[in-house]
Amino acid sequence: MKFVRHVEGKTTLFVPQASVTVDPPPTSPVFFNPAAALNRDITVALAAAGGGRTFCDSMAGVGGRGVRVAKEVEGVSSVTLVDFNEPALRAGERSARLNRVAGRCSFELSETNAFLASRFGRDQRFDYVDVDPFGTPIRHIQAALAATSDGGVLSLTATDTAVLCGVQEGTCRRRYGGSPLNNHFHHETGIRVLLGAVARLGAMLDIGAEPVAAHSTRHYLRVFVRVRAGASRADAALKGVGSVSWCHHCGEASSGVVPSPVCPRCGKKAKVAGPLWVGKVTEEETVRAAARAAQEKGLARAATMLGSLVGVDGFPPWSFSLERVCSALKVASAPEDRVYRALAQSGRRVARTPFEKTGLKTDAGYAEVVEAVRTAARSGI
Ligand SMILES: C[S@@+](CC[C@H](N)C(=O)[O-])C[C@H]1O[C@@H](n2cnc3c(N)ncnc32)[C@H](O)[C@@H]1O
Ligand SMILES: [Zn+2]
Repeated sequence: MKFVRHVEGKTTLFVPQASVTVDPPPTSPVFFNPAAALNRDITVALAAAGGGRTFCDSMAGVGGRGVRVAKEVEGVSSVTLVDFNEPALRAGERSARLNRVAGRCSFELSETNAFLASRFGRDQRFDYVDVDPFGTPIRHIQAALAATSDGGVLSLTATDTAVLCGVQEGTCRRRYGGSPLNNHFHHETGIRVLLGAVARLGAMLDIGAEPVAAHSTRHYLRVFVRVRAGASRADAALKGVGSVSWCHHCGEASSGVVPSPVCPRCGKKAKVAGPLWVGKVTEEETVRAAARAAQEKGLARAATMLGSLVGVDGFPPWSFSLERVCSALKVASAPEDRVYRALAQSGRRVARTPFEKTGLKTDAGYAEVVEAVRTAARSGI
């Protein structure tokens, strides 16, 4: 197979030629996805903000993430890259040499869980573990949590978005133990279902898993959690697990520890998502520091993405869709900035949701959003 040089961030990687000429890139014999550059940029920024020294890229492929961390994150002294695909790992070794970070990188030809299980010992864990599978990360979560040091960070990618975002509800319940929502805030709900599963799997091991950051695209969901050792931290984390109800009849949403199957506004049957994470999805100081780190490193899109997460925890765990409200009101459209202004004028906070393509987050209820859309649509005529 032919490998070519490919520059990402400040690193030159050896990647399969087909991965930069064919879209989507082939998954075999070796996989590399140039479109995941933003995903890796955000990892670099959060690793830089986190201050850990040891990093495990537990599904490394050609080492795009691990080699970049070794090269671009000051303070990381050792990166361990794991994969059961030998040609992929060999390409990673070549990239490490090319970037002069081979001394900081070690390569393990191994199954991920088998390797992580060999690093459960207290002095053998990593300050940072990344799990980046094809599909669901669920079967690797406990091994990865247990191989992350107390105070360290675990990051997970899930590409089974159809499952977590509500297209395959039964599979989501079986796989993650929580119900998703197939609506206009399905990505946020998917992120929260995944975070809820991580918190519950961690609690079984006396580990508290507290969110640091999360982001999503159409193709994947990504979460970062801080690992805290101890039964009391595990109990504390479980307090963040609850449910979100959404009424498809009238548009109202609510959340709480106990599921609310009846809409508080119209009294009809609501759809209940969960158990899922209803607590904070960010560690705000870390996200701010990561946004700054991304800016300093010239990773502009990562800086914007991370910046958009700042303040998100001031809002309830859902968003509203202007298109949906407009269609319910039978108005053609309402200019977004006018809707925002109308809500702000009635003392409400409002921001774009960072988790969906469109949608707004606000501390206002559905009725107030409807009123703001009416006002905006009128003044738009
Ligand atoms: C999505 S790719 C990783 C991409 C890489 N992290 C990057 O950012 O370029 C998934 C990789 O995980 C490896 N993999 C999947 N399941 C594995 C397992 N159980 N043990 C070891 N490697 C595994 C595959 O060989 C593949 O290289
Ligand atoms: Zn209702």
